[in-house]
Amino acid sequence: MNANRKTVRRDPGYAGLTRTVPTLPTAWYFDPAQFQLELQRIWQRNWLYVCRSSEIATARSYRGYQIGEQRILLVRGDDGTARAFHNTCRHRGAALCRDDAGRFPAAGIVCPYHSWRYNLQGDLVQASSKLAGDDFEPRDYPLYQLPVTEWHGFLFVALTQRPPPFAASFDLPANRLDDWRMADLVVAHTLRKTMQCNWKVFWENYNECLHCPTVHPKLVNLVPLFGRAYLERQDDPSWQDHASDPDPRFGGGLRRDAQSWTLDGQPAGVPFPGLSEADRKAGHIYLTSVPSVFLVAHLDYVRVLRVRPLGPEETEMSIEFLVLPQTLSEGRDLGNAIRFTDTVMSEDAEICELNQRGLHAAPHQAGVLMPEEYAVASFQNWVRTQLADG
Ligand code: FES
Ligand SMILES: [Fe+2]
Repeated sequence: MNANRKTVRRDPGYAGLTRTVPTLPTAWYFDPAQFQLELQRIWQRNWLYVCRSSEIATARSYRGYQIGEQRILLVRGDDGTARAFHNTCRHRGAALCRDDAGRFPAAGIVCPYHSWRYNLQGDLVQASSKLAGDDFEPRDYPLYQLPVTEWHGFLFVALTQRPPPFAASFDLPANRLDDWRMADLVVAHTLRKTMQCNWKVFWENYNECLHCPTVHPKLVNLVPLFGRAYLERQDDPSWQDHASDPDPRFGGGLRRDAQSWTLDGQPAGVPFPGLSEADRKAGHIYLTSVPSVFLVAHLDYVRVLRVRPLGPEETEMSIEFLVLPQTLSEGRDLGNAIRFTDTVMSEDAEICELNQRGLHAAPHQAGVLMPEEYAVASFQNWVRTQLADG
């Protein structure tokens, strides 16, 4: 009998698991057939964050995006609307553009193979044959279009005609970060990393702080609750002992002398003007849309982390730093924010790769989740539910 179990009570409202839960089967983290199934049932069915609207700011500018073998083209129309198409010509299926980003000519989208020409709505305007077959109707051959949502300057695409409601794809109300006025923010910097791990390993690591004390020395110095291996106040079984204690060791948020996620705790960018006192004190507010993105809003910048699977054991993350335009025009040095994030994300990437490496042990069919890993359990249940929906 575990002595802890006898002596530690669980206060009402305790967030942790009260029984152990098995993890997903280990083979799901490297089996190629499982990876294909997850691409089909998860990545091709949910809203996916592609890029900021500013990447296709002008009419005819485009940007590519790839998930598995699905290559997508996002293009800004003359009417200002962003549209997404499979990057595939309706003639014999050539890719419509070679580059990942660029601008189509005034003529529209012209296939590089036999010059079929489409307008920016995806309608076939002209086939190249001098005389088409008698039954050929150009309107029968528009590009394969996909749903797009443009939200606060973020472009999302869905690789299905029937995506779930967009707002429901977030874990909190989608307007939670409205005070940050994200449509007006500009990208100050982007970090990219390729991790040798399955995409689920990344999200599982994201969903717990049990690893924080061992993996993130700088982060736990900034966020004392993380140093106790908790994400939220109610992750502590005896949380009611300190239910209204404002000490950040219990309530969360940044250590007392810090205001933002930077090396010295001081804001690097110009602070956002419209934040409530609670938002300023929180230090970080997360808004998550699995499987492709989470946002973290700080006092002076918003961090956007996009996840993209490259293979069963390879995952890309790109991190954009969004700031007020004044932060750039005033020449603020964001180095302390960028280096802090780079440190924490590199620590996470390294530990995710270590996790992946160990998963191959033949006898390790599944692991076990501990109380602090309740959000990992929720994520894994979400994965199971998505996969079960054939
Ligand atoms: S494949 Fe595009 S015009 Fe032939
Ligand atoms: Fe971490």
